Amino acid sequence: MAEEKSAPQQADGEALENLLHEGRQFPPSDQFAANAVAKPSLYAEAESAGTEFWARQAREMLTWEKDFEQTLDWSEAPFAKWFVGGKVNAAYNALDRHVEAGNGDRVAINFEGEPGDVRQITYAELTDLVKQAANAFESLGVGKGDRVAIYLPMIPEAVVSMLACARIGAVHSVVFGGFSSDALRNRIDDAEAKLVVTADGTYRRGNPSSLKPAVDEALSDGKSTIEHVLVVQRNEEPVDWTEGRDLWWHDTVAKAGKDHTAVGHDSEHPLYILYTSGTTGKPKGILHTTGGYLTQTAFTHKTVFDLKPEQDVYWCAADIGWVTGHSYITYGPLLNGASVVMYEGTPDTPHRGRWWEIVEKYKVSILYAAPTAIRTMMKWGDDIPAKYDLSSLRVLGSVGEPINPEAWMWYRKVIGSGRTPVVDTWWQTETGAIMISPLPGVTEAKPGAAQAALPGINADVVDESGQSVPNGSGGYLVIREPWPAMLRGIWGDPQRYKDTYWSRFEGMYFAGDGAKRDEDGDIWLLGRVDDVMNISGHRLSTTEIESALVSHAAVAESAVVGANDETTGQAVVAFVILRGEDAKKFTAEGADTSEIVADLRNHVGREIGPIAKPRQVLIVSELPKTRSGKIMRRLLKDVAENREVGDVSTLADTSVMNQITEGLKK
Ligand code: PRX
Repeated sequence: MAEEKSAPQQADGEALENLLHEGRQFPPSDQFAANAVAKPSLYAEAESAGTEFWARQAREMLTWEKDFEQTLDWSEAPFAKWFVGGKVNAAYNALDRHVEAGNGDRVAINFEGEPGDVRQITYAELTDLVKQAANAFESLGVGKGDRVAIYLPMIPEAVVSMLACARIGAVHSVVFGGFSSDALRNRIDDAEAKLVVTADGTYRRGNPSSLKPAVDEALSDGKSTIEHVLVVQRNEEPVDWTEGRDLWWHDTVAKAGKDHTAVGHDSEHPLYILYTSGTTGKPKGILHTTGGYLTQTAFTHKTVFDLKPEQDVYWCAADIGWVTGHSYITYGPLLNGASVVMYEGTPDTPHRGRWWEIVEKYKVSILYAAPTAIRTMMKWGDDIPAKYDLSSLRVLGSVGEPINPEAWMWYRKVIGSGRTPVVDTWWQTETGAIMISPLPGVTEAKPGAAQAALPGINADVVDESGQSVPNGSGGYLVIREPWPAMLRGIWGDPQRYKDTYWSRFEGMYFAGDGAKRDEDGDIWLLGRVDDVMNISGHRLSTTEIESALVSHAAVAESAVVGANDETTGQAVVAFVILRGEDAKKFTAEGADTSEIVADLRNHVGREIGPIAKPRQVLIVSELPKTRSGKIMRRLLKDVAENREVGDVSTLADTSVMNQITEGLKK
């Protein structure tokens, strides 16, 4: 379905004006600044060193088996090669070297299961587990360059599996456990994965919840490239078993040998593929490679969160199925030798204070979370966090979507007792690591703004023609220079990589986000300017959900928009035209659409996953289209957000919006 581009200025005009008049500023305390990892001189250092800045970081943050000869090869732009000629092993850097340095007894993972079971895994133990998994994977025929799908809940085996792949040079493709069997199968097929690592299930809101049946369904035709399914026993619910294909983790990995030598892989060796929604129906397999990705995740994790690995307890409350979990649960923190907290469940199980109970219990000092979670907890009330001792917290991070100033203030005041820096970090699956963020101890923070490109990153806001906008103006966010953790392409589709990111503006990476510079030159992010929606910090494309809807037998056509939502940032609102008799029946005056609407919502849940279920499904008899047949989603968004419908003059039939609004009133 064709799409209509909206100008970034329209992203959220009124809210933005309020934001830009946000006058509050929070300079770091002298004490914080004096002890901070980041120093103000870092910006000037990066500026004068150019790409050599990253060469320094690469050598400082990582232990290379073989040093690199060239920092950046951009001769085949936009296909970058960083740290050319270097050899490095991600798992060795995240694990073995910490043990060799005498830190084997430090806790790597504090796991808290939803039912309250706990596991503390030291660096020495995690190293052994990863070596065993590496041996087991190899014994199953998985070798360098092979793809492994990881479809697991938030349990330590997810981290173990990722690092075991990285150790042997296999390429992991983590699929969010909340995705459907269809979504899993599509990702398995696209990457031609050999092995799936999964679990019998997990726990959700106090009950066992299954995972393996989705894998069984995904592989039911027996025609996939998958040779083995490795199953972690988590909730001990009964599972179906395919002899010869399925293997228990405890029979395989737990019995494998603990000797495994990590060899360095080429700096540009593929590390992982992670699928993310674009503007078309088919998710893109974003490809990340080794040396550059590890360098930037380690550097940003250390400087943006002010990490002191000997004393900090770091908790990133994302799921491992998203890029935040990759870069800031697994790679960044473990490369830096941090102690991380990993929590399996939902924030309100068994009670709404669970997060704060975890902070108190583990003395979490750095918390990284999404605005949608912060807004939800804000709604639940200040008295809940007030019951817990949160005094261990010293840095708070936000990621995934714009954070509104009220939520930012609440986060700092109520959770950070008014003293912790809050870092609003902008980045994407594609950028691999944080790109725009304040630096704690350096930046005078403004509630709601990501503010400035990190040292070594060249971000800008440009107008339609690619010219930098003056302070006080809006435009499109671009990255002007290659960066180490940048995606190296879209799996199997180099042309789509060029078209999506490098064709909108000559020689610049187009992020797909609207942005504005305030009078001080600080950057404010305004949300997507394409048909990608951001639901609770998760990316979904309108077209993907439209395709899911039209795959339902009753649906003739559909249009999906992301409407503002107080809690989730945006919510999915679908406009649907039904087929044949249903069309008349359900658009008639007084028709009860509740059953068909529930059916359509569930259908989307089954096709993509519960996160994609529309908040609202509106049955209509027409959709607004231009003369060339493009759906004008802007007008539908007006309806979904209860606004006066905007200019309809470019519609082929200008009466359509009247029909829709009148029809919905019925
Ligand atoms: O629109 C931006 C929004 O999330 C998109 C990237 O989504 P994804 O690849 O799923 O990665 C999310 C976690 C890094 C961006 O294009 N986004 C992410 N962080 C912010 C943000 N929008 C505003 N402020 C942020 N801090």
